[in-house]
Amino acid sequence: MISQNSIAQVFETARVEEVIGDFVQLKKSGSNFKGLSPFSEERTPSFMVSPVKQIWKDFSTGKGGNAVTFLMEHEHFTYPEAIKYLAKKYNIEIEETERTDEEKQKADKRESLYLVSEYANEYFQKILHKTDKGKAIGLSYFKERGFTDETIKKFQLGYALDEWQAFTDEALKNGYNIEFLEGTGLTIVKPDKHFDRFKGRVMFPIHSMSGRILGFGGRILGNDKKAAKYLNSPESEIYHKSKILYGLYFAKQTIAKEDNCYLVEGYTDVIQMYQRGITNVVSSSGTALTSEQIRLIKRLTNNITVLFDGDAAGMRASIRGIDLILEQGMNVRVCTFPDGEDPDSFSKNNSLKEVQDYLTENSKDFIQFKASLLFEDSKNDPIKKAETIRDIVNSIAKIPDQIKKEVYIQACARIMDISESVLFSTLAQITKKENQEANKNYKQEQKAFDVVRTEPKQVSKVNIQYELERKIIEILLLYGNKTEKFEDLVLKEDETSGDLVLEPVVHEAKVFEKVYLDLQEDEMQFTDDDFKTLYYSIVDNLNQNEDFSAKDFINNLDQKMAPLVTSILMDDEKYNLHDWERNNIVPKEKSHSVPQLVSQTILSLRCYLIDQKVSAFKEETLSPDADLKSVMENVKDYVGLKMLLSRKLGKVVGS
Ligand code: CTP
Ligand code: MN
Repeated sequence: MISQNSIAQVFETARVEEVIGDFVQLKKSGSNFKGLSPFSEERTPSFMVSPVKQIWKDFSTGKGGNAVTFLMEHEHFTYPEAIKYLAKKYNIEIEETERTDEEKQKADKRESLYLVSEYANEYFQKILHKTDKGKAIGLSYFKERGFTDETIKKFQLGYALDEWQAFTDEALKNGYNIEFLEGTGLTIVKPDKHFDRFKGRVMFPIHSMSGRILGFGGRILGNDKKAAKYLNSPESEIYHKSKILYGLYFAKQTIAKEDNCYLVEGYTDVIQMYQRGITNVVSSSGTALTSEQIRLIKRLTNNITVLFDGDAAGMRASIRGIDLILEQGMNVRVCTFPDGEDPDSFSKNNSLKEVQDYLTENSKDFIQFKASLLFEDSKNDPIKKAETIRDIVNSIAKIPDQIKKEVYIQACARIMDISESVLFSTLAQITKKENQEANKNYKQEQKAFDVVRTEPKQVSKVNIQYELERKIIEILLLYGNKTEKFEDLVLKEDETSGDLVLEPVVHEAKVFEKVYLDLQEDEMQFTDDDFKTLYYSIVDNLNQNEDFSAKDFINNLDQKMAPLVTSILMDDEKYNLHDWERNNIVPKEKSHSVPQLVSQTILSLRCYLIDQKVSAFKEETLSPDADLKSVMENVKDYVGLKMLLSRKLGKVVGS
């Protein structure tokens, strides 16, 4: 494990804007930087980096954190990987120490799942190559499909015996734990027995980008229509189907070198094309492509060529998914095969040169392809043609680049034999509608934010207690360490009149002490678990550490909490994003001093809690066996207290 010392050194040296700048184009905006979110496909920047606070916040997805969390989110690094990456970037030497037990356990669990998967991979290969049944059934199947020994070894293909527990028993005998066999889905555990998931199937192991085994696909032999043709490993801690592309491990280098990636449907398409000599090929394994998968490819190239099987219905269905690739700003080409053929059969039956030539001659730009396809479909049908125009312009609207959009509009106008101006005005309509949607979403998000709209009605829509608890956390993070003069209003009896009056008493205290004591006095508890944890941890830190800073606090925070804390700290930055949205939004704290803010927040919370209590009592009176007298007394007490607090609050707010 990396020593605390090294971690601290990394945090001291790393500059969040420099780290993120390697991945995202950042522009200076006031004291911050902003850019397009790398986590969504937005067009107006909502990704903010604060060099002062050394944090970042992505308002489009809600993610946020420091340099390390950015690397964990963006590069899918683990925490130690992110630290090591930064150490390398800044030439810091890392010292390693022993891991804690808890860390060991967590890492151990994933590691155990990997180990079980790797064992299974070896096992299935051994069965295929070394047993009579494996050779007679599995190996001969692969041979029949035209796979060479070299290919079978390269892709580590295997065979699962047609027995109920052959694999599991062998694994247990070799000391593998049933917990992890179940965890990978290789074994199905029932109260009184356990059995193998894969039985009588040829096995395709699925590799991570770095070559570890994550899961398996198992194909049934022959054409039994009753059983599923392929059975796949279930989702597990190491196998996330939506984030994996079959074949990427073998293809990644050529994808980068050729600056293009072929996308096919199935395992066998990948293998057959690879064997033929076209090695920049991956498969989404029969499911609709996800944006996470596209991003995996985008790390290597900006160009993707989708290969469709020969059947027209399937192709028309898959075309929908392609807009997702356009949205990521990638260039998409498509290629179809002659009727009844797929990349597998076509590569099997043709030479490398023939396949290459075919791909070169038949790959078409996706938008133009879609335009001609739709044009064919709607040539003689004016109503359908209108639909078609919207459909194609919808795809064009997904392209982030403005110039590309225009080029496509011009090309499609030619292909579909309509005027450019019709297409341009359709595009304008769609874009306008999308912007309105985006604004609507943005506004809804804004409401949940910690701001008060000038129309008082809006306030009641937010969860008041949550917002107040959040505000307390914000106060502690920003001002917890400050010493301030607080004016407490204490209830006194006026000496001459005997009336009760509120009298101000001024005392000096640290903000966090004041908050802590006030909350304790009322025995107030946080209702939100995250805020509760944060609250105690911040108070503890402030108590022990004279030079508490929010920045250090975040850096030492449990990484799960980092997004929450950064979003609290970045709230005020959000106003800088959309000036036009600010018109009628008044951030509460801007008009008040710190002591006012503290008192107001705590008093508001107390008033709110009292309201809750009173409502609860009122509810109680509805029950047939309520002790009305005692309930009413309680209500009276609380209402009195509420009035008193309201007076205090009025003074604080009014002053
Ligand atoms: N698939 C699946 N489960 C199924 C059918 C298909 O997971 N019941 C996935 C597999 O990843 C498969 C891909 O979808 O590779 C494409 O399906 P298909 O074209 O039917 O399979 P092929 O890979 O072409 O397999 P084969 O050539 O052996 O029929
Ligand atoms: Mn197929």
